Amino acid sequence: MAQPQVTAVRGIELNVRDLAASAAFYSNVWGLTEVGRQNGSIHFRATGDEHHVLTLHAADNSGLASFNVAAADKGSVDGLHAAAIAYGANVLDAPHGLDGVAGGGYGFNLTTPDGIRLTVSCDVARHAARIDDRTRPNKFSHIVLRSEAPDTMDAFFIDLLGFRLSDKNGHIDFLRCSPDHHSVAIGHAKGPGLHHMAFELPDLDGLMSACGRAKVAGYPIEWGIGRHAGPGENVFCMFVEPNGFASEYTTEMYQCDEATYPKRSIEYWKSVPLQPCAWGLATQRSEMLHKARSGQLVEELNARHENLAPRKAA
Ligand SMILES: [Fe+2]
Repeated sequence: MAQPQVTAVRGIELNVRDLAASAAFYSNVWGLTEVGRQNGSIHFRATGDEHHVLTLHAADNSGLASFNVAAADKGSVDGLHAAAIAYGANVLDAPHGLDGVAGGGYGFNLTTPDGIRLTVSCDVARHAARIDDRTRPNKFSHIVLRSEAPDTMDAFFIDLLGFRLSDKNGHIDFLRCSPDHHSVAIGHAKGPGLHHMAFELPDLDGLMSACGRAKVAGYPIEWGIGRHAGPGENVFCMFVEPNGFASEYTTEMYQCDEATYPKRSIEYWKSVPLQPCAWGLATQRSEMLHKARSGQLVEELNARHENLAPRKAA
């Protein structure tokens, strides 16, 4: 039997100091919909059929709590659990039935070599009806982690969880587990921690409308709107959410054919014209975004016990 693989990244879980303020942002500004809450945790869906793509947990300090990945079936979950033990990974529990408020299913928890928690699951409930609104995220797109040991992190995702290396650009290693060019990426930076998270809009017009909604609500565009002249070639727009995390709207991620995708060299990507934005428009990242992606902003806000207030739209 082939080694079981992760087939998707379902979503992300964040610890937040002000649960009500964060919930209001992700509902009213970011465009997600609450689907359940229990014991200080709230789950939010996107417009697609995934049960939830974001969970917020009330906590003393904001931070990345975990992220959730999918496997095909119970046999795959059991196989990945056995493989994780054999790999020497930090496995936190055995496969078991998961919380019904979070869609149930069957899974187990482990950590990356950097100590970031993830849940591998199958049979999580899916929504029968999609929400017809292209201005709101339809799914979680990708998580980018900061790591001081990127080769070790790459090996964990590739050798244990079955990800494939799509590209490297010298700063970030891009890994896929589906046709999406990347669902997990490892940034070569001070870590461990969350570099940024990205939610997918169904099309460019929807993304433009979503960006406008965030801007009018007082969350300025920190980088974008652009199309990466680099790995993934996706359209991007970066914001900083109330806890100081960098959060991206994205669309038109490159779809890889497993048989033919031509992984290219760092030199190739450095040679692409108009780096880092194919349109030549989104060239400068804000200082706020630099602080958010490095983790410094979350640390500062935790120390001050503050959330970012909406800022006046330009
Ligand atoms: Fe991204």
